[in-house]
This record gives sequence, C-alpha cells and structure tokens, in this order.
Amino acid sequence: MTETRDTLIDAARDAANRAYAPYSGFHVGAALLLKNGDVVTGANVENASYGLTLCAENAAVAKIANEGWIGELAEVAIVGGRPDGDALIGSDPVHPCGRCRQILNEAAERSKTDILVHCASGDGKTVKSYRLSELLPAAFGPKDLGLID
Ligand code: THU
Repeated sequence: MTETRDTLIDAARDAANRAYAPYSGFHVGAALLLKNGDVVTGANVENASYGLTLCAENAAVAKIANEGWIGELAEVAIVGGRPDGDALIGSDPVHPCGRCRQILNEAAERSKTDILVHCASGDGKTVKSYRLSELLPAAFGPKDLGLID
C-alpha cells in the first residue's frame, strides 16, 4: 500500500538524520514495519576503523531482535543520501548491501514473509520496491539449518 510505503520512507529519512557517518558523509536510514503496525528504525554507525561500520539495516534488525521481535517483520524501507542542513539529498534509490540483504533475510524467514523492501533516494522522490527474494534469491537462512518448516 502506497500509504504504508510513504510512512516507512518518512520514518527512514528521519532516522537517517540520526546517522553517525562522519567518514563517508553518507546517511542511511532503515525503517522496519512490524506485523502489529509498529515501526522500528536504525541508521548507520561508522567507526574510525572503517570496516567496523554498522549499516542502518543492521542497526534496525539488531533493535528488533533484542526486543524479541525478529519474527514480527512485515515490510522495510531504506533511504540514503547526503545531509543538507536538516534535509537529505540525492536522487538515486539506495539498495541494501549484500550483508544487509542476508541480515534482513534472517528476520524475513523468521517472520515467514517474503518482505517488501522499498529503496528510496535521499530526497524521497524516487522509490524502487522489491520482494526480498528478488534482492537475495536462493538465500541461505534458518530454514537450511532446520529451524523453520
Ligand atoms: N550503508 C548502510 O547503512 N546500508 C547499506 O545497505 C549500504 C551502506 C552505509 C555504510 C556506510 O556508513 C555508508 O553507508 C557508506 O557506505
């Protein structure tokens, strides 16, 4: 539903304002819609040891897992761009990196849902939407370890 999509993108853009990204200057926000309608967000957290950076999706999934909600995921929006004052700019949609696709898959499999992933540009004007199975076909996940039917 477009309304849900737009609400999630707004939440992800808001979260991107809280990114800690002094090295790349690239702010990413992720918004996770739970089955009960709640929205949980995350933003990227960089580190002086660059490779230790946490992506926005990673931060958001860690939050729901820590609350016991890893099996409650319904839909996701991701937004990335460069801050310009309070605004986020950039016209190309940002797609989740490979590691984040795998991290999202863990929650999606646990939630028994081939989740919709909305990928938005920093200015929020361009959005491409996918099923996670399109972004990560033939995924390896908890089902392969016998944890899911
Ligand atoms: N980044 C994310 O937060 N999520 C992604 O899926 C791709 C990349 C962040 C990591 C880093 O802080 C910045 O974007 C530039 O790579």
